[in-house]
Amino acid sequence: MKTLLKGAKVFENKGKGQFVKKDLLIDGDKVSVSSPDEQNSCLYDSLFDFRDKFIIPGFVDVHVHLREPGFFYKETIRTGTMAGAHGGYTMICPMPNVKPAPNDFENLKAQLDIIEKDAWIKVLPYGTITRDGDGRSELADMEGTAPYVIGFSDDGRGVQTGDLMEEAMKVAKSLDKPIVAHCEDESLLTGGYIHQGEYCRVHGHKGISSESEWVQVARDVELAAKTGCKYHVCHISTKETVDIIRQAKKSGVDVSCETGPHYLILTDMDIKEEGRFKMNPPIRSAEDRDALIQGIKDGTIDMIATDHAPHSVEEKSKGLEKSAFGIVGLETAFALLNTHLVNKGIITIEELVTLMSINPRKRFRLPGPLSLTEGEKLCDITVLDREREWTVDPENFLTKGRATPFEGWKLRGKPLATFVDGRAKFLEI
Ligand code: DOR
Repeated sequence: MKTLLKGAKVFENKGKGQFVKKDLLIDGDKVSVSSPDEQNSCLYDSLFDFRDKFIIPGFVDVHVHLREPGFFYKETIRTGTMAGAHGGYTMICPMPNVKPAPNDFENLKAQLDIIEKDAWIKVLPYGTITRDGDGRSELADMEGTAPYVIGFSDDGRGVQTGDLMEEAMKVAKSLDKPIVAHCEDESLLTGGYIHQGEYCRVHGHKGISSESEWVQVARDVELAAKTGCKYHVCHISTKETVDIIRQAKKSGVDVSCETGPHYLILTDMDIKEEGRFKMNPPIRSAEDRDALIQGIKDGTIDMIATDHAPHSVEEKSKGLEKSAFGIVGLETAFALLNTHLVNKGIITIEELVTLMSINPRKRFRLPGPLSLTEGEKLCDITVLDREREWTVDPENFLTKGRATPFEGWKLRGKPLATFVDGRAKFLEI
């Protein structure tokens, strides 16, 4: 079965990303640059006219929640990976706050079996850092899970003592795997649920301080320097965190980080009294958002990840104070960033692809192409329509989650097709 993708602008990476007009041929599980000879011979079974469209190495999201095993009513591997394909992702990496926690091979296997059976796109999970994934219990059997995971995380909880984090970093280093940290010092929490800023004060809510994030980042970059561990910070949200990571990179620490679309687009003044505006870390001030954008532009922030965190409608319908933390993101990320960063001239489309596809693959040594160039194994690719206009309607999502602060937003840009190992996993022509 041969398919010709004709006329698109195709992403090449020769030190710097660029788009070049050329045709791609999918033959079985192989994707290659198509020569005019091949086309003359008409030896293909289907043809897609992708003039004015963009073909890129598929997006990779290193931070999602797929909720299986344990919480299938929120999301399943099937619905989460369908949502990923719909969003242009060819690989996603689920965090380990599931039940049983993947803290040894046996528990991880429960999740690997479901992935094997149900995943629409590539899925590479995390193992926990601690036994209970709570940032406090003894270390997990990291050696047992290491061969099957992207790295170790207790996402949802910070690792609460420097000693425990140092121990974890030493083990991770010996296993040649990264520590991927949700940074949150629980001794600095006072029952808050939105950013401790203006909106919080004016509306009489309880706040989450910026310090609760950056204090742990500051501790961990020191520990990463000391142990030599590869260290990645999840969903950074504060201006202080950007500065700490910028300085740590300058002094040679092996550190990287991600932020999410919502932190780059919204501020606490956009919050409404609804659970769909609640996530952890929270949307922060305009100053924080501007510092994150600066961090994206100067390379301090390496990648954009969604922290796709679905919950049931009931769990998200209890207002700001009582709803669960977390919003969905896989099906809106590209359109949001295309509309609000690229089309506003803040970054280029090449830079966006680098942040969503290339840098995560490079940093975490993930499979898939870094450049759609002759001779590369192209396999996982996504076709983007940068012009299509649509309105965010959660009822049209493939994820089970419905909570997004972007409900009703008019956006420009949509993935049209997602191919994994040459096979179409989503196609909307
Ligand atoms: O908002 C969040 N939701 N932040 C987290 O750290 C965890 C996540 C979840 O698991 O729902």
